[in-house]
Amino acid sequence: MASLDQARVAVIGLGYVGLPLAAAFGRHFPTVGFDIDAARVGQLKAGHDHTRELSPEGLREADKLEFSSDPAALAGCNVFIVTVPTPIDEYKRPDLHPLESASRTVGRAIGRGGIAIYESTVYPGATEEICIPIVERESGLVFNQDFYAGYSPERINPGDPKHRLETIMKVTSGSTPEAAAFVDALYTRIINAGTHKASSIRVAEAAKVIENIQRDVNIALINELALIFHRMDIDTHEVLEAAGTKWNFLPFRPGLVGGHCIGVDPYYLTHKTQQIGYHPDMILAGRRINDGMGSHVARRVIKLMRQRNHDMNQPRVLILGLAFKENCPDLRNTKVIDIIRELRSFNATVDVHDPWVDAGLAQHEYGVELVSEPQSGQYDAVVLAVAHGQFIDMGADRIRGFGAPNAVLFDVKRALPRAQIDGCL
Ligand SMILES: NC(=O)c1ccc[n+]([C@@H]2O[C@H](COP(=O)([O-])OP(=O)(O)OC[C@H]3O[C@@H](n4cnc5c(N)ncnc54)[C@H](O)[C@@H]3O)[C@@H](O)[C@H]2O)c1
Repeated sequence: MASLDQARVAVIGLGYVGLPLAAAFGRHFPTVGFDIDAARVGQLKAGHDHTRELSPEGLREADKLEFSSDPAALAGCNVFIVTVPTPIDEYKRPDLHPLESASRTVGRAIGRGGIAIYESTVYPGATEEICIPIVERESGLVFNQDFYAGYSPERINPGDPKHRLETIMKVTSGSTPEAAAFVDALYTRIINAGTHKASSIRVAEAAKVIENIQRDVNIALINELALIFHRMDIDTHEVLEAAGTKWNFLPFRPGLVGGHCIGVDPYYLTHKTQQIGYHPDMILAGRRINDGMGSHVARRVIKLMRQRNHDMNQPRVLILGLAFKENCPDLRNTKVIDIIRELRSFNATVDVHDPWVDAGLAQHEYGVELVSEPQSGQYDAVVLAVAHGQFIDMGADRIRGFGAPNAVLFDVKRALPRAQIDGCL
């Protein structure tokens, strides 16, 4: 294996995970940021990051970083870090195509002594069972003899200024003790919070996937309690506040579970468990509950409008927020779309406003035409679906002002004071 000082890093896939990583390495090592999306590469070369994870200054500070969409640029690299998406297909099965394609790219570029490190979230075993055989086949090299592997899962939280790449402890692992030591030393250069060297690649893969499963299942429990307490006319948030005074009560809140990770990663593990003959009851139950929350919100809003005698032939509803979470432009797997679709199924006309989201993308991905400036006094209901800072700064009165007199204000995350809203989860 090359020594750390000779490391020439390639980061394959420059999205939410790959770009900050490429920039961090690009301050220490010669680094090539590679992406198949030439438009993305063009924007990055021009200093613009649409994910808003890196500022133009942040990009400039990475003075050893170059961007390319040409695989020829990877020649001479000896550390390949794969950060491509790991989505699910329409049957909720892992879609490993990006990972396989990136592994082919690595296999064609890697030389003797090189190392392929995977960061994408997968099920335990995927790196060594799926990716490495592709690298071997494409390179003609022998695994753990001519080249090595590592797995170091990403934990960043887009839109969260506190938890950044450098400030989150990073799990590392390698295919041999030497490879593990190399991977650990490599990340130690860029991570201020320190590293945790796992005993194997499979342990590191499993650790990542269960971090998100644990969140998913915990939120599902609280969502189920919210469904129960709503039927009992008990305020869930007041219950959580009271229960939260116990030292070991975990502070989860009800809400929509969307995005690229928490709502998707559990299916990676459940796919693998079914392959080995185990049916995961609890994980899948959590998924089912969380996936049903969007339509539950819509039905609650419809009921509240009816109770207030709004004209239900074609009620007008304003949704504030389309991103899958607050203060972030990411639309992937947003569950706000479930609210919109369910409302439309009740014949509602739905306007959506989100200052974070790219209007073209909203149209392309979901057929949703964003309203750039909602008019005042127009709506039978306003749903605060995503607690973006801009909406919280507006305050309940201005938000309510979008509605007609007696309009419903439903606050999915209970981001506004209880006395000023008509409903929440
Ligand atoms: N976004 C997050 O918050 C987050 C956090 C932790 C872990 N992860 C995991 O990290 C991985 C990447 O997620 P992301 O959010 O950065 O994805 P993303 O969609 O933002 O970015 C992926 C990038 O990879 C590129 N790409 C796709 N196939 C490629 C290929 N074959 N070769 C080169 N480039 C290719 C795409 O063009 C895109 O720019 C996923 O496994 C995800 O689960 C994401």
